[in-house]
Amino acid sequence: MNPPRYTLPAIALHWAQAIIVLWLLWLGWTMTDLPKGAERSAAYALHKSLGLLTLLLVLLRLGWRQRHPAPPSVVGAWPERLARLTHYLLYAFLLLAPLAGYLASSFTPYAIKLFGLEIPKAGWPDESLNALFKQIHQIAVWGGAGLIALHLLGAAKHIVQRDGMLRRMLPG
Ligand code: HEM
Ligand code: HEM
Repeated sequence: MNPPRYTLPAIALHWAQAIIVLWLLWLGWTMTDLPKGAERSAAYALHKSLGLLTLLLVLLRLGWRQRHPAPPSVVGAWPERLARLTHYLLYAFLLLAPLAGYLASSFTPYAIKLFGLEIPKAGWPDESLNALFKQIHQIAVWGGAGLIALHLLGAAKHIVQRDGMLRRMLPG
Protein backbone atom coordinates (compact mmCIF):
# COMPACT_ATOMS: atom_id res chain seq x y z
CA MET A 1 0.00 0.00 0.00
CA ASN A 2 1.39 3.44 -0.89
CA PRO A 3 -1.00 6.18 0.28
CA PRO A 4 -0.57 9.78 -0.96
CA ARG A 5 1.52 12.07 1.26
CA TYR A 6 1.16 15.50 2.81
CA THR A 7 2.90 18.25 0.78
CA LEU A 8 6.58 18.91 1.54
CA PRO A 9 5.93 22.30 3.29
CA ALA A 10 3.25 20.62 5.48
CA ILE A 11 5.72 17.85 6.40
CA ALA A 12 8.53 20.35 7.13
CA LEU A 13 6.23 22.52 9.27
CA HIS A 14 4.88 19.47 11.15
CA TRP A 15 8.32 18.18 12.15
CA ALA A 16 9.79 21.62 12.94
CA GLN A 17 6.80 22.32 15.15
CA ALA A 18 6.85 18.87 16.78
CA ILE A 19 10.50 19.37 17.83
CA ILE A 20 9.87 22.92 19.09
CA VAL A 21 6.74 21.95 21.07
CA LEU A 22 8.44 18.99 22.79
CA TRP A 23 11.37 21.30 23.60
CA LEU A 24 8.94 23.92 24.98
CA LEU A 25 7.24 21.38 27.25
CA TRP A 26 10.59 20.24 28.62
CA LEU A 27 11.81 23.86 29.00
CA GLY A 28 8.56 24.97 30.68
CA TRP A 29 8.60 22.17 33.23
CA THR A 30 12.31 22.58 34.07
CA MET A 31 12.72 26.39 34.00
CA THR A 32 10.13 27.02 36.73
CA ASP A 33 12.26 24.99 39.19
CA LEU A 34 15.48 26.94 38.51
CA PRO A 35 16.71 29.35 41.20
CA LYS A 36 16.46 33.07 40.36
CA GLY A 37 19.47 34.16 38.31
CA ALA A 38 20.97 34.31 34.83
CA GLU A 39 20.22 30.68 33.92
CA ARG A 40 16.54 31.03 34.81
CA SER A 41 16.22 34.35 32.92
CA ALA A 42 17.86 32.82 29.83
CA ALA A 43 15.56 29.77 29.98
CA TYR A 44 12.44 32.01 30.29
CA ALA A 45 13.63 34.20 27.40
CA LEU A 46 14.24 31.15 25.17
CA HIS A 47 10.87 29.68 26.20
CA LYS A 48 9.04 32.88 25.26
CA SER A 49 10.85 33.16 21.91
CA LEU A 50 10.20 29.52 20.95
CA GLY A 51 6.58 29.85 22.13
CA LEU A 52 6.02 32.93 19.97
CA LEU A 53 7.70 31.16 17.06
CA THR A 54 5.20 28.32 17.56
CA LEU A 55 2.34 30.81 17.23
CA LEU A 56 3.79 32.18 13.97
CA LEU A 57 4.38 28.66 12.63
CA VAL A 58 0.86 27.46 13.40
CA LEU A 59 -0.65 30.47 11.59
CA LEU A 60 1.57 29.69 8.60
CA ARG A 61 0.63 26.02 8.87
CA LEU A 62 -3.13 26.68 9.03
CA GLY A 63 -2.88 29.05 6.06
CA TRP A 64 -1.08 26.36 4.05
CA ARG A 65 -3.47 23.64 5.23
CA GLN A 66 -6.50 25.63 4.02
CA ARG A 67 -5.19 25.54 0.45
CA HIS A 68 -3.76 22.00 0.69
CA PRO A 69 -6.14 19.52 2.36
CA ALA A 70 -4.83 16.37 4.06
CA PRO A 71 -4.39 13.38 1.72
CA PRO A 72 -7.27 10.88 1.86
CA SER A 73 -7.01 8.38 4.70
CA VAL A 74 -6.48 4.67 4.09
CA VAL A 75 -7.75 3.54 7.51
CA GLY A 76 -11.39 2.94 8.54
CA ALA A 77 -13.94 5.66 9.30
CA TRP A 78 -13.63 5.41 13.11
CA PRO A 79 -9.83 5.74 13.50
CA GLU A 80 -9.94 8.47 10.86
CA ARG A 81 -12.60 10.41 12.80
CA LEU A 82 -10.66 10.09 16.06
CA ALA A 83 -7.43 11.20 14.34
CA ARG A 84 -9.19 14.19 12.77
CA LEU A 85 -10.68 15.24 16.12
CA THR A 86 -7.23 14.95 17.76
CA HIS A 87 -5.73 17.08 14.96
CA TYR A 88 -8.38 19.82 15.41
CA LEU A 89 -7.73 19.85 19.16
CA LEU A 90 -3.94 19.89 18.60
CA TYR A 91 -4.35 22.99 16.42
CA ALA A 92 -6.54 24.58 19.14
CA PHE A 93 -3.77 23.84 21.68
CA LEU A 94 -1.10 25.25 19.33
CA LEU A 95 -3.06 28.53 19.21
CA LEU A 96 -4.30 28.74 22.81
CA ALA A 97 -1.11 27.78 24.70
CA PRO A 98 1.19 30.43 23.17
CA LEU A 99 -1.57 33.05 23.18
CA ALA A 100 -2.21 32.51 26.92
CA GLY A 101 1.58 32.53 27.56
CA TYR A 102 1.89 35.81 25.66
CA LEU A 103 -1.04 37.34 27.59
CA ALA A 104 0.36 36.14 30.94
CA SER A 105 3.71 37.77 30.06
CA SER A 106 1.90 40.92 28.90
CA PHE A 107 0.53 41.56 32.40
CA THR A 108 4.00 41.80 34.02
CA PRO A 109 6.47 44.70 34.24
CA TYR A 110 8.94 42.82 31.97
CA ALA A 111 9.46 43.30 28.23
CA ILE A 112 8.61 40.43 25.84
CA LYS A 113 11.32 39.66 23.32
CA LEU A 114 11.33 37.45 20.24
CA PHE A 115 14.95 36.30 20.01
CA GLY A 116 16.15 39.64 21.39
CA LEU A 117 13.70 41.84 19.46
CA GLU A 118 11.23 43.60 21.78
CA ILE A 119 7.60 43.13 20.67
CA PRO A 120 4.48 45.08 21.76
CA LYS A 121 2.66 43.84 24.86
CA ALA A 122 -1.12 43.44 25.11
CA GLY A 123 -1.38 44.51 28.77
CA TRP A 124 0.04 46.34 31.77
CA PRO A 125 1.50 45.12 35.08
CA ASP A 126 -1.43 43.41 36.86
CA GLU A 127 -0.86 40.48 39.20
CA SER A 128 -4.36 39.02 39.09
CA LEU A 129 -4.57 39.07 35.25
CA ASN A 130 -1.06 37.61 35.11
CA ALA A 131 -2.16 34.79 37.45
CA LEU A 132 -5.36 34.19 35.41
CA PHE A 133 -3.52 33.80 32.08
CA LYS A 134 -0.77 31.73 33.73
CA GLN A 135 -3.48 29.35 34.88
CA ILE A 136 -5.05 29.20 31.40
CA HIS A 137 -1.56 28.61 29.97
CA GLN A 138 -1.00 25.75 32.41
CA ILE A 139 -4.38 24.11 31.65
CA ALA A 140 -3.78 24.45 27.86
CA VAL A 141 -0.32 22.95 28.23
CA TRP A 142 -1.53 19.93 30.24
CA GLY A 143 -4.41 19.37 27.80
CA GLY A 144 -1.90 19.64 24.93
CA ALA A 145 0.44 17.12 26.57
CA GLY A 146 -2.50 14.66 26.83
CA LEU A 147 -3.37 15.21 23.16
CA ILE A 148 0.26 14.69 22.12
CA ALA A 149 0.32 11.40 24.08
CA LEU A 150 -2.85 10.29 22.22
CA HIS A 151 -1.32 11.41 18.93
CA LEU A 152 1.87 9.42 19.61
CA LEU A 153 -0.21 6.33 20.50
CA GLY A 154 -1.94 6.71 17.12
CA ALA A 155 1.44 6.98 15.38
CA ALA A 156 2.70 3.87 17.26
CA LYS A 157 -0.42 1.97 16.14
CA HIS A 158 0.34 2.89 12.50
CA ILE A 159 3.89 1.58 12.94
CA VAL A 160 2.71 -1.72 14.45
CA GLN A 161 -0.02 -2.20 11.82
CA ARG A 162 2.29 -1.14 8.97
CA ASP A 163 -0.65 0.59 7.28
CA GLY A 164 1.54 3.22 5.57
CA MET A 165 -0.15 6.15 7.40
CA LEU A 166 3.11 7.31 9.00
CA ARG A 167 4.71 7.56 5.56
CA ARG A 168 2.16 10.27 4.70
CA MET A 169 4.04 12.55 7.11
CA LEU A 170 7.58 11.55 6.03
CA PRO A 171 9.57 13.16 3.20
CA GLY A 172 11.00 11.28 0.25
C1 HEM B 1 7.40 12.81 17.36
C2 HEM B 1 6.23 12.33 17.29
C3 HEM B 1 5.19 12.56 16.21
C4 HEM B 1 4.84 11.68 15.21
C5 HEM B 1 5.45 10.30 14.94
C6 HEM B 1 3.77 12.31 14.45
C7 HEM B 1 3.16 11.75 13.35
C8 HEM B 1 2.12 12.29 12.62
C9 HEM B 1 1.48 11.69 11.47
C10 HEM B 1 1.85 10.32 10.86
C11 HEM B 1 0.49 12.51 11.05
C12 HEM B 1 -0.48 12.28 9.89
C13 HEM B 1 -1.62 11.53 10.48
C14 HEM B 1 -2.79 11.39 9.55
O1 HEM B 1 -2.82 11.98 8.46
O2 HEM B 1 -3.76 10.73 9.96
C15 HEM B 1 0.49 13.68 11.93
C16 HEM B 1 -0.36 14.74 11.82
C17 HEM B 1 -0.39 15.81 12.69
N1 HEM B 1 0.47 16.02 13.76
FE1 HEM B 1 1.97 14.79 14.37
N2 HEM B 1 3.48 13.53 15.00
C18 HEM B 1 4.32 13.74 16.07
C19 HEM B 1 4.35 14.83 16.91
C20 HEM B 1 3.46 15.90 16.83
C21 HEM B 1 3.44 17.02 17.75
C22 HEM B 1 4.38 17.23 18.95
C23 HEM B 1 2.42 17.84 17.32
C24 HEM B 1 1.97 19.17 17.87
C25 HEM B 1 1.73 19.46 19.06
C26 HEM B 1 1.80 17.24 16.16
C27 HEM B 1 0.72 17.77 15.48
C28 HEM B 1 0.10 17.20 14.37
C29 HEM B 1 -1.05 17.76 13.68
C30 HEM B 1 -1.79 19.06 14.06
C31 HEM B 1 -1.35 16.89 12.62
C32 HEM B 1 -2.48 17.05 11.61
C33 HEM B 1 -1.95 17.53 10.28
C34 HEM B 1 -3.08 17.97 9.39
O3 HEM B 1 -3.81 17.12 8.85
O4 HEM B 1 -3.25 19.20 9.22
N3 HEM B 1 2.46 16.06 15.89
N4 HEM B 1 1.49 13.52 12.89
C1 HEM C 1 3.03 25.94 22.39
C2 HEM C 1 3.66 26.87 23.09
C3 HEM C 1 4.02 26.73 24.54
C4 HEM C 1 4.16 25.60 25.32
C5 HEM C 1 3.99 24.13 24.91
C6 HEM C 1 4.52 26.05 26.65
C7 HEM C 1 4.75 25.20 27.74
C8 HEM C 1 4.92 25.62 29.04
C9 HEM C 1 5.04 24.74 30.20
C10 HEM C 1 5.01 23.22 30.17
C11 HEM C 1 5.18 25.54 31.29
C12 HEM C 1 5.28 25.08 32.75
C13 HEM C 1 3.90 25.13 33.34
C14 HEM C 1 3.84 24.65 34.76
O1 HEM C 1 4.40 25.32 35.63
O2 HEM C 1 3.20 23.61 34.99
C15 HEM C 1 5.19 26.91 30.84
C16 HEM C 1 5.35 28.01 31.68
C17 HEM C 1 5.45 29.30 31.20
N1 HEM C 1 5.30 29.75 29.92
FE1 HEM C 1 4.95 28.58 28.30
N2 HEM C 1 4.59 27.42 26.66
C18 HEM C 1 4.31 27.88 25.40
C19 HEM C 1 4.29 29.19 24.97
C20 HEM C 1 4.61 30.30 25.76
C21 HEM C 1 4.68 31.68 25.31
C22 HEM C 1 4.44 32.15 23.87
C23 HEM C 1 5.00 32.43 26.38
C24 HEM C 1 5.22 33.93 26.49
C25 HEM C 1 5.51 34.74 25.48
C26 HEM C 1 5.12 31.55 27.52
C27 HEM C 1 5.43 31.95 28.80
C28 HEM C 1 5.50 31.12 29.89
C29 HEM C 1 5.78 31.58 31.24
C30 HEM C 1 6.06 33.03 31.67
C31 HEM C 1 5.76 30.45 32.06
C32 HEM C 1 6.05 30.38 33.58
C33 HEM C 1 4.81 30.47 34.35
C34 HEM C 1 5.16 30.44 35.82
O3 HEM C 1 6.14 31.05 36.21
O4 HEM C 1 4.39 29.78 36.54
N3 HEM C 1 4.89 30.25 27.11
N4 HEM C 1 5.02 26.92 29.47
